[in-house]
Amino acid sequence: MSLLSLWNAAKLYRSVFLMTGGSLVWALGVVLCCVGVGGLENGLARTPPMGWLAWQRFRCNTDCVNDPHNCISESLFMQMSDILEHEGYRDLGYNMISLDDCWMARHRDAQGRLQPDPHRFPSGIKALGDYMHKRGLKFGIYEDYGNYTCAGYPGILGHLQTDAETFAEWGVDYVKLDGCYSLPSDMDRGESLAVHYCPAK
Ligand SMILES: *[C@@H]1O[C@H](CO)[C@@H](O)[C@H](O)[C@H]1NC(C)=O
Repeated sequence: MSLLSLWNAAKLYRSVFLMTGGSLVWALGVVLCCVGVGGLENGLARTPPMGWLAWQRFRCNTDCVNDPHNCISESLFMQMSDILEHEGYRDLGYNMISLDDCWMARHRDAQGRLQPDPHRFPSGIKALGDYMHKRGLKFGIYEDYGNYTCAGYPGILGHLQTDAETFAEWGVDYVKLDGCYSLPSDMDRGESLAVHYCPAK
């Protein structure tokens, strides 16, 4: 599978955030990956992304030992998936659940792939995405266009293709690509790369 179709498979949108002094500042808002020029109708992002993102409420709480109901773990995202479904949000169009920072293990695996924290996501990310898809929800994930994420987990630089392939294998629909440890000039390059990886359709 080519990189182009992988990015397509992941239906990669690009949203860039800057983390400054702990406050979240929208840098570019949400930019459609495959839209280089206005007016392209490819079926993607006809509305803004709507759903639930973990960060503002749960931040980087990884302490599942002392705070099991509020930590970043697969059970938190399964619970939120159930709520979007059963409380009617999904049917109103809020149909996306998105992981934010701190889902990863501290290091890539021996093949250089991202891996989830094994204690907090014991079933693996593919299984979590399947759980969402079975409920008619889209599955969003988080990475950072730098050497590290804001919380110091592995960033995407040097691993763009591997991570695109991994996300596609996991059935990811959406990627929040953050801007920590990234220079504005790098972000510009990242944008052209993302557009480059998108298929002409
Ligand atoms: C990322 O790491 C590489 C290799 O150490 C380095 O050359 C590069 O400048 C770093 N990029 C940023 C944005 O810090």
